[in-house]
Amino acid sequence: MSFNAIRELRNNNEYKAGDLLVIFGELFNRGYANGLVNAAKAKGMKVITGTVGRRDSDGTLRPLNSDELAEKTEDVINIPLEAGFDIEPGPAGKSAVDMISGLKMSQWQEAQIDWNEVEAAQKTAIERFRKQTTAFLTELKDKYINENTNVLFAHTMAGGFPRSKIIMTVANRVFKGSGKRYGSSEEFWNSELGKLCNKNFNEVSGETLSHLIELSADTRKYIESHGNRATYTAYGYHGTEILIDDKFTWQSYAPYLQGWAKVRLEEIANEAHSKNINACVFNVPEILTNSSSIFLGVEVPLYKLMQAIQKIKGDDAFNAIKEKCNSLLKEEFTIEDVLAKLDSYFVNSNITHLLDWEKGWPQHNDADQMLFMRTLSSEIIDMHKDKKELMTAELSELCYNSCGIAMLDESWSPRNGTTWVGHDLVARLM
Ligand SMILES: NC(=O)c1ccc[n+]([C@@H]2O[C@H](COP(=O)([O-])OP(=O)(O)OC[C@H]3O[C@@H](n4cnc5c(N)ncnc54)[C@H](O)[C@@H]3O)[C@@H](O)[C@H]2O)c1
Repeated sequence: MSFNAIRELRNNNEYKAGDLLVIFGELFNRGYANGLVNAAKAKGMKVITGTVGRRDSDGTLRPLNSDELAEKTEDVINIPLEAGFDIEPGPAGKSAVDMISGLKMSQWQEAQIDWNEVEAAQKTAIERFRKQTTAFLTELKDKYINENTNVLFAHTMAGGFPRSKIIMTVANRVFKGSGKRYGSSEEFWNSELGKLCNKNFNEVSGETLSHLIELSADTRKYIESHGNRATYTAYGYHGTEILIDDKFTWQSYAPYLQGWAKVRLEEIANEAHSKNINACVFNVPEILTNSSSIFLGVEVPLYKLMQAIQKIKGDDAFNAIKEKCNSLLKEEFTIEDVLAKLDSYFVNSNITHLLDWEKGWPQHNDADQMLFMRTLSSEIIDMHKDKKELMTAELSELCYNSCGIAMLDESWSPRNGTTWVGHDLVARLM
């Protein structure tokens, strides 16, 4: 994989009022897709979203009910698009989660999984997802697409942690643990539980894009046969360029165990792109959303956006964001304190290996790096007056809005199947 980032917009997109932005996934507050929604609405486009659906207490997957629908701001095609197979029973009646349900923490490495059963359940789950996607696309075509519509599909799906207590307990150590509570991501990844995560992440965060592109072939042909355009974007993560020592430098978060599924997502988009389908994965910066809060520490590079803003936009823009962020900190701290901590963080040998593209990606954690990352993450969070009002909210919104503008523009005729949006472009487009 070679690194290429968008440095400026092409400004050649011809999306117009009445065109469609179709969120293939559910739209949540704070989520990345809100940026695309804002960019599309600024053009007068109509936004349609999907839903992951909900599980009833007996496990049945169902569409949103009327209360849940009433909370949504956009039109929803109410067909559950949950992917993954973690709670899907195999032919003998047990799901992967059932197979590991009795395990205590001391036994997590002894998990025994019947992979034949799990693979059969996986097939059933894939069939269900494809059936649901087909129904979703049929409703989309029948209700919303006409002879004049350009359609931008935005894949947002990521996740797939098996819904099992033992996995969440071990994962908490791997992603959040340090010192005595440190958990090695490599050890976890090579275990039976890790293998299960890997397979399920791949289904949810990777293969779903492939199903979408394949199953929407007829819709795409219909759109194109009327001289319109069908385009596909997906959100990836594969590190971000941030300002370090006055230079935009690639770095990445570890342990991003979903990274292997994100690499698969890139392969799917690259293959489609090579077949002249307008598809592109956008590797976007670390922000805090409902989905990323398990990866505590992932927000550390986000604070550096303030320095990128100063470099690209100048002091007035920097002072404006600094003032907003300062107002969230306790009296005794300033943004300068935060930025000074970050400057020494990114040149520390516990972290510098995560700035080395040549080392390959994704990388596993190590005990020193986790302690160092988690310590800084907590220190900065503790500097706030109120832990529910963090400057990451402000900075995340800047990121997702700029990414939305960039993605809308680039999607029209993407230069590559995979691309990056760094802090430089986020600052430029804010
Ligand atoms: N938050 C970050 O720092 C960050 C960074 C780079 C890329 N991304 C990517 O952005 C995209 C949106 O994530 P977000 O962080 O905005 O969070 P989010 O919670 O707003 O979005 C997560 C999406 O995944 C879908 N989803 C979750 N589980 C699913 C399942 N089992 N089957 C099908 N769909 C499922 C949800 O419906 C939702 O659309 C994801 O692809 C994510 O990996 C996030």
